[in-house]
Amino acid sequence: MHWYQTSLGKKYIMAATGLGMVGFVIVHLIGNLSIYAGPAAINTYAEKLHQLVPLVWSFRLVMAILLLTHICTGTLLYLENRKARPVSYACRKNVRTSLPAETMIWSGLLLAVFIIYHLLHFTLRVTNPDISNLLDPLGRPNVFAMVALSFAKASISLAYVSAMIVLLLHLYHGIQSLFQSLGLNNGKTLPVIEKSGRAAACVLLAGYTSIPVAFLFGTLNI
Ligand code: HEM
Repeated sequence: MHWYQTSLGKKYIMAATGLGMVGFVIVHLIGNLSIYAGPAAINTYAEKLHQLVPLVWSFRLVMAILLLTHICTGTLLYLENRKARPVSYACRKNVRTSLPAETMIWSGLLLAVFIIYHLLHFTLRVTNPDISNLLDPLGRPNVFAMVALSFAKASISLAYVSAMIVLLLHLYHGIQSLFQSLGLNNGKTLPVIEKSGRAAACVLLAGYTSIPVAFLFGTLNI
């Protein structure tokens, strides 16, 4: 465990767990976009997923470990950095720093709050029980109706769009940073990795926000 006590060891852990979660966020978006194919498509997708019981639970366990490790290690790194530099600079001249990079701890903690809300909303279905346990004409859980009726409410859509902006902020710096921590770049590839990471974060923002926005403005409806 000695390497975990070093900053470098912790950065590797942050990068490896971050990479796993970026993978999840991409796959989850692709699954969610099936909503554009209509109720039958997303309800079938959700039903098939839930039939793979051992796989779903193994996946949930892995994701929970990745998430908790990422949060705990990130918080430790933040506290160690603060301890090393308790007084902030009067005048910062570090030109490579940016708002997303400076606020990683805060965007990360806000995302953790969003994930708790999101699980209570769509997975445990406790925040809006009136619209969360409907069945479709084939007697399956009506995920389409749950998402549609949720996002028809401006307050819920606004909460999701705000959370997706926080996700953008976190990944705008996070994706390129993880390549750096894993040593997968050099002077030549750095600008390409930086641009691709930022572009990927913007694509994820556009994909995810399109869903609440489509229901709120009636482009998609039940
Ligand atoms: C517009 C944005 C989003 C929509 C419409 C959405 C939709 C959903 C739905 C419907 C479920 C429940 C699936 C089911 O039980 O059948 C779910 C689960 C989940 N979502 Fe999202 N999601 C969104 C964004 C996100 C984001 C950005 C993250 C991560 C940062 C995320 C993480 C999760 C997790 C961890 C689960 C639990 C998976 C499980 O049940 O094992 N979601 N989402």
